[in-house]
Amino acid sequence: MKTEPYKGVRDFYPPDMAIQNYLFGVMKKTAESFGYLEYNSSILEPSELYRGKTSEEIVNEQTYTFTDRGGRDVTLRPEMTPTVTRMIAGKRREFALPLRWYSIPNVFRYERPQRGRLREHWQLNCDVFGVAGLEAETEIISLAYRLMKNFGAADVDFEIRANSRKIIAAGLVPKDFSEEQIRDFTRKLDRGDPTPADIHFEPDEEIKKLLAALKENGINNIRFDQTLARGFDYYTGIVFEVFDTAPENNRALFGGGRYDNLLEIFDEEKIPAVGFGMGDVTIRDFLETHKLLPTYQSTTDIYLCNAGVNFNKLEKIAQEIRDNGLRVAIDLSDKKVGVQIKIAVRQQIPYILCVGEEELKNGQFKLKKLANGEEKTLTLQEINAQNLF
Ligand code: HAM
Repeated sequence: MKTEPYKGVRDFYPPDMAIQNYLFGVMKKTAESFGYLEYNSSILEPSELYRGKTSEEIVNEQTYTFTDRGGRDVTLRPEMTPTVTRMIAGKRREFALPLRWYSIPNVFRYERPQRGRLREHWQLNCDVFGVAGLEAETEIISLAYRLMKNFGAADVDFEIRANSRKIIAAGLVPKDFSEEQIRDFTRKLDRGDPTPADIHFEPDEEIKKLLAALKENGINNIRFDQTLARGFDYYTGIVFEVFDTAPENNRALFGGGRYDNLLEIFDEEKIPAVGFGMGDVTIRDFLETHKLLPTYQSTTDIYLCNAGVNFNKLEKIAQEIRDNGLRVAIDLSDKKVGVQIKIAVRQQIPYILCVGEEELKNGQFKLKKLANGEEKTLTLQEINAQNLF
C-alpha cells in the first residue's frame, strides 16, 4: 500500500491544518463583517442538479458521479452555486429577501492536477440573493476586495478585472449571432481563444457605473477587461475575477458574477443573485508568493515535562492549568528530561514546565520560553492567571 493520498487531493498535516484554519478564519471574519450568514449542505447531490444550466465542461468531463445502491445518480458537488440555489428555491417563501449567505465547502472536480488546480479544494462562497440593482455587485466586489486586504495584500499585489455578459452578447448580436453562438463564443473567450480582430466591446453604462461606485469607495485596482468571460453558462450580467499581479504567479485567484436565472431550473420564479467563489489553493499560493502567510504556531501552550513524579500528580496539575484556559500537553514518553524538552521543541510548543518532587513540595515552577530560552519561576496561581512571558 502506498502512503500518498488519492491523486489531486491533499492530506492536511498539523502545519497545513494551521494554515487552513487561518485562511478559513479570515474568510469567516470578513464575510460576517459584511453581515453574511453561514450555511452548509452535504457533498452529495443528485446528478440532475448539474445537467441543466452550469457548464458543459464541468458536467461532462469533470464531475465525480456514481450510481448508489438504490440506483440513483449521485455527484460530489463540483461547486456550491447550484446547491445554494436549490436550498433557496426549496424554502423561498420562508425568507425575507435580500439574503446574504456564505459557506466554505469542499468541492470536487476531475481536473488535471497542476499548480492552483486540484481535484478537491475548499471554496469560500459569498452570495447575495434578491437584489436586482448594481448595489449587489458593488457590495460583492467590495467584499472580495476587503478579503484581500484582510489577508494583508496591498492594492498593487492584485487587480480586479470586470466585464459583463451583456456587453459580450451586445457586441455579437448585431453580427446576427444566435443565443447558442453567443454561448459558444463566451466559452471560447473563457478558454482564452483569440477573438476575431473585428470584435470590439465597449463598456456599457452599467459597468461604467459599477467602476465609478467602487472607485468612490476607494477601490482603484479594478478595470474593464473585454476578454474576461468566466466559465459557467448561468452568469447573466457583470462577471469579475481577481488576479495576482506578481509575474511569478500571474493568474486568476478567484471570481464570480451575477446569475439571475438559475432558480428557473426548479420551476421557481427568478431571484436575482450575485456572488463569487474563492478557492483555498489559489489564495494560499498568492499568500506564499507575497510572503503573507503567518508563521506556524502550535495550538498547545505548555508542554509538561515529567522530572520523576507520579503520572497522576502531573495530570492533576495539568488539569488545573487547563481549567484556567491554557492548553497543556503532558509528556508520555518516559524519557529523560532533556529528551522531553527536545520533543516539545520539535512540536514548536511555546512553553515548557518541568515538574519534579522538589517543585511540588515548594510550589515554585520553572517555566521556560522556547523562543529565547528565558526562564521564570512562577507559582501555579501565577501560571493559572496566564501571567506567562
Ligand atoms: P469557479 O471560477 O469555477 O467559480 O471557481 C471559483 C474559484 O475556485 C476559482 O477562482 C479558484 O480559486 C477555485 N477553484 C476552482 N477550481 C479549482 C480547482 N480545480 N482547484 C483549486 N481551486 C479551484 C465557481 O465555482 C462559481 N460557482 C463561483 C460563484 C459563486 N459564482 C457565483 N457565486
